[in-house]
Amino acid sequence: MILPGSASQSLAASLAAELDARVGPVEYDWFADGELIVRAPFEADHAVVVASTVSSDAHVQLLQLQDVARRHADRVTTVLPYMGYARQDRAFTDGDPVSARAMARAISTGTDRVLTVNPHEEAVTDFFDVPCESVDAAGLLADPLPADLTDPLFLAPDASATALAETVSADYGTGDVDFFEKVRDYDTGEVSLTPSETAVEGRDVVVVDDIIATGSTMAGAIDHLQDDGVGRVFATCVHPMLAADARTKLARAGCEAVYGTDTIERAVSAVSVAPVVAEALRE
Ligand code: R5P
Repeated sequence: MILPGSASQSLAASLAAELDARVGPVEYDWFADGELIVRAPFEADHAVVVASTVSSDAHVQLLQLQDVARRHADRVTTVLPYMGYARQDRAFTDGDPVSARAMARAISTGTDRVLTVNPHEEAVTDFFDVPCESVDAAGLLADPLPADLTDPLFLAPDASATALAETVSADYGTGDVDFFEKVRDYDTGEVSLTPSETAVEGRDVVVVDDIIATGSTMAGAIDHLQDDGVGRVFATCVHPMLAADARTKLARAGCEAVYGTDTIERAVSAVSVAPVVAEALRE
């Protein structure tokens, strides 16, 4: 039985289709004081809670779904297509919490197993008190790209996204891979990028990252490319958070199209992670 969080209803339906499973009768509501309540009257051997924790409300819904699941199923698996707070994986200044660990501990209390898709750092899986595996969706990102890219270059906005860019390039079938040097000022949130060495003049560039959140990283990378006479520019990522004005930032930087998966359900979610998550669930 698949139990979706309200932010992951489309992915949950796709996952149910992949697994030939049923979607549970989940309703989302609020009390007058603003507190959330999920209602999911079901009975099953195995409950799979599917909820991207894209907001504080989504976190609460996830914990509530797990609580229902614990009472009505023998086994509970939690799928975090996108794990919120995963990027807060260390105390950045003295006195900061390790928020990813705090979230992982809370989530662990209501489940037997956790799956998450492309966490920012693999090490975040160690914060859980139950077995947690990461599922790699990088192999899906080439699918929605235009088939006619000219002399393509797959560019990571920082070194840590290079493996992702390499996978997309390999799946696309042709193209070079390079990366920018990125430094983020954690006090101001400002990002500074040192351009890659590869010439981009006249070439189509796909900027590849794990997540587009505020869009500052992607837009900064694309700005540099425009200075160097780039051809068409596309952005692709696993998690299209696209907070606040991120999509506008990318459009203003000259990005022709943005693609992402449905770990975060947005208008740009061009490909579903359901097949790779289903495969992991079958194991
Ligand atoms: C950081 O290392 C990540 O890979 C992303 O580059 C970053 O989190 C994107 O954030 P934003 O869109 O806010 O620049």
